[in-house]
This record gives sequence, C-alpha cells and structure tokens, in this order.
Amino acid sequence: MDGLPLASGAGALSAGTMEPTVAPGEVLMSQAIQPAHADSRGELSAGQLLKWMDTTACLAAEKHAGISCVTASMDDILFEDTARIGQIVTIRAKVTRAFSTSMEISIKVRVQDKFTGIQKLLCVAFSTFVVKPLGKEKVHFPLGKEKVHLKPVLLQTEQEQVEHCLASERRKVRLQHENTFSNIMKESNWLRDPVCNEEEGTATTMATSVQSIELVLPPHANHHGNTFGGQIMAWMETVATISASRLCHGHPFLKSVDMFKFRGPSTVGDRLVFNAIVNNTFQNSVEVGVRVEAFDCREWAEGQGRHINSAFLIYNAVDDQEELITFPRIQPISKDDFRRYQGAIARRRIRLGRKYVISHKKEVPLGTQWDISKKGSISNTNVEALKNLASKSGWEITTTLEKIKIYTLEEQDAISVKVEKQVGSPARVAYHLLSDFTKRPLWDPHYISCEVIDQVSEDDQIYYITCSVVNGDKPKDFVVLVSQRKPLKDDNTYIVALMSVVLPSVPPSPQYIRSQVICAGFLIQPVDSSSCTVAYLNQMSDSILPYFAGNIGGWSKSIEEAAASCIKFIENATHDGLKSVL
Ligand code: COA
Ligand code: ADP
Repeated sequence: MDGLPLASGAGALSAGTMEPTVAPGEVLMSQAIQPAHADSRGELSAGQLLKWMDTTACLAAEKHAGISCVTASMDDILFEDTARIGQIVTIRAKVTRAFSTSMEISIKVRVQDKFTGIQKLLCVAFSTFVVKPLGKEKVHFPLGKEKVHLKPVLLQTEQEQVEHCLASERRKVRLQHENTFSNIMKESNWLRDPVCNEEEGTATTMATSVQSIELVLPPHANHHGNTFGGQIMAWMETVATISASRLCHGHPFLKSVDMFKFRGPSTVGDRLVFNAIVNNTFQNSVEVGVRVEAFDCREWAEGQGRHINSAFLIYNAVDDQEELITFPRIQPISKDDFRRYQGAIARRRIRLGRKYVISHKKEVPLGTQWDISKKGSISNTNVEALKNLASKSGWEITTTLEKIKIYTLEEQDAISVKVEKQVGSPARVAYHLLSDFTKRPLWDPHYISCEVIDQVSEDDQIYYITCSVVNGDKPKDFVVLVSQRKPLKDDNTYIVALMSVVLPSVPPSPQYIRSQVICAGFLIQPVDSSSCTVAYLNQMSDSILPYFAGNIGGWSKSIEEAAASCIKFIENATHDGLKSVL
C-alpha cells in the first residue's frame, strides 16, 4: 500500500482524509464517472477502467524511461469493489523497479463518493512496460542494436524499498508463468476425468461461445499508432461478459483477470477477431477465456491471422434480486473443452499462489502463548475456530475427483482450503486414527516426524512436528495443540482441531524454519455405519501454501496425493481390523 491511512472495514478512507500530493515519478489520473463509462446497471464498466489504468501506467513508464514504451503484460487484477456513475476514480501509477529494457509499474485505483467524500480501494494491479523507440527516437539507436538500459528507480521511502524487492519476486513468477502452467497441466494428466455430479446440474459450454470483430481505427490507437493495450483489454472484457451472461442468465460482473500478455502488436487498419467461451465454473464464479487474433488486409483475405492476446476473466454474477448466482457445473465434451476445463483449474491454483507472493505475508512464527492455567479456554478457542472456518460462506469448489473434492475460500487477508474425502470406514474409526497425530507420517508425505511433547488432557495434546523440504527451503517445524471432540447428542460431527502454540521449552532451532498453523483440522461426519466424510480444513499461512500452490506448480498435486493416501490409510486400517496401526 502507499502509506495512506486506510480506515478499518472495506478499505475505506475517512471523509476528511486529504489526497496526498503526487510523489516524484508518480502519475495521477482523476476521472468523474459519466453514463458513457458505465454499464446498463450504472456501474463503471471494467473495460473503461482497464483503459484508464493502462494509459496511466504507460505515462508513468514513459516518465521514467524518457522514451516510448509498450505494454508487455498486466498481472492478475483483482477488483475489490465497484464504482458508480457520479463517483470519482483516481488512478496512481509509478515504476516500482526498472530491469533492463522492462519495468514494473504499480497501479492503484481508488473511488471517492462525491457526497460523503469517503474513498475506497477499487483495485491494485502491476503491469510491465518495455521500451520501444519509435520514429525520431530511433535516431539514437541507428543500427537497432544498441539496447536501451533503463536507469534504476530512486528509492525514497521504506515502502518503495519493499516494493522494489517484491518486484523482482513478481517478475520471476510472471516470466515463469507459462512453464508453471504447463507443469501443472502435465501433472494433472494423472487426474482422472472430472466427475460431474448429475444432481448438481451440469451444463455444456457450446451456447457460451461468442465471436466479435473490431476494425482498429485511429481513436483506438495509442500515440505510437499501435492498438492501445487498454482498448484491447476493454474489447476482450465485452465479449467475455456476453459469454458469461449466456451461462448465468443474470448480471455478470468482473471479479479478476488472469495475466494479460501482449504477445505482439496490432496497428490501425488491423481487424481484431475475438473468440470467447466459458472454460469452467467454480460455484459462484466462472472463468471465461478470450483469444484475439489480428489480421491486416492481406492476412484477412488469406484467413491467416496473428495470435496477439489470450486472457482469462473471472466473473461473479447476481440475479434480478441482487443475489449471488451459483453457476451450473460444466460438463466438458470435446477435447478442447476438457483441456480448457483443466486449464481453468490450473490457473486458479496459480492465481492463489501468486496472491501469496504478491501479498507477501511474512512468515511470522507466532501462535497462542501456551498457558496451562488457561488450557480449557485455549482448547475451546482451537475447536471453535475450526467450526467457524467450516461454516463460512464463500467456499468454492476447485477440483473434483472420484472420492476427493477440493474447495477454496478466498477472503481479504486469507486463503483457506478444504479437502473433502469419502471414506469407506465408520466415522469413529476415522476419528480414532486421525486424532492420533503420531500416525500422520504413515500417510501424509509432508510429515517427517510427529511426537507428543505434552499430554495436556485426554482430549488435548501438544505435538512437535517436522515437515519435508519444499522449494529448496530449509525443512519446517511446528509446535501445535491438537484438540479432539466426540459428537455431542444433537450433533454428529467428530472434530480434531489444531493450531500453533508457543512453548518456551521448544524454542526454534537453526535447522528448521519454525512455522505456523493458524487454524486447521478434521471434521468427520458419518454417512452410514460403514462410511463417513472426512473434511480437512486449513487456513493457509506462508508455511502451508507452498504445499498447495507449490513453486508455484511443483507441489500442486501434493494435496490430492495426501488426501488419497489418507483415504487408503483409514480404509486399510479398517479392513485389517485396525491391527496394523493400533
Ligand atoms: N511480461 C513481463 N515482461 C516481459 C514479458 C511478459 N509477458 N515478455 C517479455 N518481457 C520482458 C523481458 O523480460 C525483457 O525484459 P528485460 O529487458 O528487462 O530483461 C523485455 O520484455 C524484452 O524481452 P524480449 O524477449 O527481448 O522481447 P520480446 O521479443 O518478447 O518482446 C514485447 C516483448 C512486449 C516488446 C513484444 O512482445 C511486443 O511487442 N508485444 C506487443 C506490445 C503491444 O502491442 N502492447 C499493446 C499496445 S501498447
Ligand atoms: P487454450 O485454448 O489452450 O485455453 P488459447 O490461447 O487458444 O488457449 O485460447 C484462450 C481462450 O480463448 C480459450 O481458453 C477459450 O476460452 C477461448 N477461445 C479460444 N478459441 C476459441 C474459439 N474458437 N471459440 C470460442 N472461444 C475460444
């Protein structure tokens, strides 16, 4: 953030807060939202906002470079809120870091209500611009061989230093994006065909296919004669919105965009053909993909275009009562459908992983200070936190296998995962096996060792756990309180909750990264006398997320593997009459 005193709540600034002046290197654009900028519901159209963001970012890049620049990409954009006609939008852009010929620009958008004066954060995004000498500028690079080397950014505040460091992390993620994606896609070959449950309703994507064409005219081009990047994004958003609306029969609104990458330029006179279709749905959200091809006059006649852009847009939708719509599950039919269906799952995972890099929540080895005199209340807090996490609204299904469903919950500052497994064993047996964490290394490939260090009571133990190395880091260790509860009369859920505690007798050691479990555990629900549903929930900390999102692809299948191994462990133990593990 840029140091503005965000008030608590939805990122609002109090009415009296004055706008700070423009910082050196920063470019500020202010726009009053007019009907022409809005959609049929009076809300600022996402396409218009993308145009303003791209222009402001381009001007910030050129202010630093002193030479013409083009948009290479815009990272994931997350829209936190909406803006309406009559409100005022301010966009601040500045270079966070200059690399060799490219630089990263941070873009922050706020909206202010004219009447109350209150400001809210609308979105934060990062784009990359690359220097591209044009016209007269080329005189300085006559052979086209001399490379433009950008000057470094002058860092004046602590925040700028932090952003400067993070910029190189983000660059790594950005440039690895395609590799990461293809790795996850390769890994997901081991997944079986997606199982679509007829009862939940399934839909094919055929009717969501949309095609549109635009002739690039001078007003669509930027000052270099290239089609303005923001204009391309706006056109893409228009076709994607039509596609999403065909599936939901409601009002889709853009929630986020996966990286926009500008693969090659297009210019005035080109015809741009946009093709969009729904790739997958995740309960309250839908991913629509758009592919753009450019044709000049000759290419148009020959039917051979240039692929200049592909993007993936995520929508939520509301019905006429403003209620959030649940999208039907997609039934992929053709080979292309199936590839895109899996692609959407892979992108969702990368997005979560990237959120972790971008938000850069520090590894804070905190936890509740263990105090034996408060053991009752700490244990209850542990159990209640898990129940509370499970009952939150907004869990969205990410992956469905035959016996395993993975859900994610994205909140302002947290990402949680829920892995739901169908197990062919009685609930009390699953509870018995899962509440004893010393058995976890038998099925969880991430656990190296797990020992009880304090038997607090019959239902509460403190464990010391060591975990395997991920992404070349040091191994991690944890000190956790595990609290177990058998069902009460009016409830039939078995609970095993865990959270980190701080125990002075087990200080961090140099061989391990002391890590934190914020809130995690198992909820075990009987289905009948011989089967149950086991849900494993985990609110992710930096320590846990790499196991889900990997680096960012490397470990992505580990959750499914651990879940499958857990099912096998419980079922085998049941069939062996529990002999092997008791
Ligand atoms: N995201 C971020 N940076 C990227 C990138 C991407 N997807 N692709 C390339 N880059 C960076 C490289 O890291 C390199 O940076 P560095 O010099 O600081 O190390 C720089 O761009 C040049 O890379 P290079 O491989 O030499 O260039 P390229 O041949 O891939 O061309 C573009 C990159 C962006 C110039 C080219 O793809 C292009 O012209 N795209 C269309 C741009 C456009 O029309 N935008 C919309 C209108 S402004
Ligand atoms: P992929 O098909 O591998 O996802 P592309 O870059 O070819 O990658 O396309 C990006 C997205 O554009 C696709 O995921 C799909 O949603 C959409 N798309 C591509 N081609 C078409 C088409 N012919 N009709 C409708 N939508 C398309």
